[in-house]
Amino acid sequence: MNALVPAPSAPVPSATALSVRDLTVRYGRAGKTLPAVDGVSFDVARGETLGLVGESGSGKSTIGKAILGLQPPNAGRILLHGTDITRASLRQRRVTAIDLRVVFQDPYSSLNPAQTIGQTLTEPLRVLRVPKDQWRPRILESLAAVGLPADAADRYPARFSGGQRQRIAIARALVCDPQVIVLDEPVSALDLSTQAQVLNLLADLRDSRQLALLFIAHDLGVVRFLAQRVVVLYRGQVMEAGGAEEVTQRPRHPYSVALTAAAPVPQ
Ligand SMILES: Nc1ncnc2c1ncn2[C@@H]1O[C@H](COP(=O)(O)OP(=O)(O)O)[C@@H](O)[C@H]1O
Ligand SMILES: [Mg+2]
Repeated sequence: MNALVPAPSAPVPSATALSVRDLTVRYGRAGKTLPAVDGVSFDVARGETLGLVGESGSGKSTIGKAILGLQPPNAGRILLHGTDITRASLRQRRVTAIDLRVVFQDPYSSLNPAQTIGQTLTEPLRVLRVPKDQWRPRILESLAAVGLPADAADRYPARFSGGQRQRIAIARALVCDPQVIVLDEPVSALDLSTQAQVLNLLADLRDSRQLALLFIAHDLGVVRFLAQRVVVLYRGQVMEAGGAEEVTQRPRHPYSVALTAAAPVPQ
């Protein structure tokens, strides 16, 4: 079993919550296929949102899966607060899971229809062995943080709209009080006005809790609202990286221009 080894002399500033270094992920055998992710590096600091943008198939979700330990990388490293978690065991992942949570794209398939919202939010607390007397207050606090009433805990997912379900998924991510959240296209399945509400909620949470967010999207317009910095991905490689303003207003790569769809963004 791998020990949690401190990072060697990687240039990771202390405020850095999440670092990805030279990440390469390949599905299938070398020589047969191009890597889905090819030598990608970036950092996300506390209180910062990094937008990871690229067209469908560019490797965004694969990066997210590698960070969460769901897809083993072929090369490179992933560091959480400077600790190398690239090859952390399941037991070690349980510890990092307190700090590193995920919100997926589809709010319909990501919630178990047979469980009440309260049961869904209890799951991570149980896995992380949070004392039982803290469950109810933590769940109510998380629901309040995403703008849902306390009685939502006793209802089933079918009672909620897509936007509300995505709030529930965010509450589930927040219930362990993490510092880093990976959001894989969290608003792509929502209509535009609901997108704006959820983006506003995420911006509030980022600022009030000093969260580090890795915000994955296929549209630069959506990313610009939330992210301070942007990484543009194309066929598994970083095409361009920089300030969100800079990349969206003056993209250096023609591909970045194509990602700026005519999506309205909340003001
Ligand atoms: N489980 C898998 N097995 C084989 N190939 C995959 C798998 N998941 C994704 N891929 C391939 O890897 C590439 C990147 O996919 P993905 O990371 O899902 O991109 P994105 O999230 O940007 O749409 C694509 O070419 C996709 O077909
Ligand atoms: Mg994806």
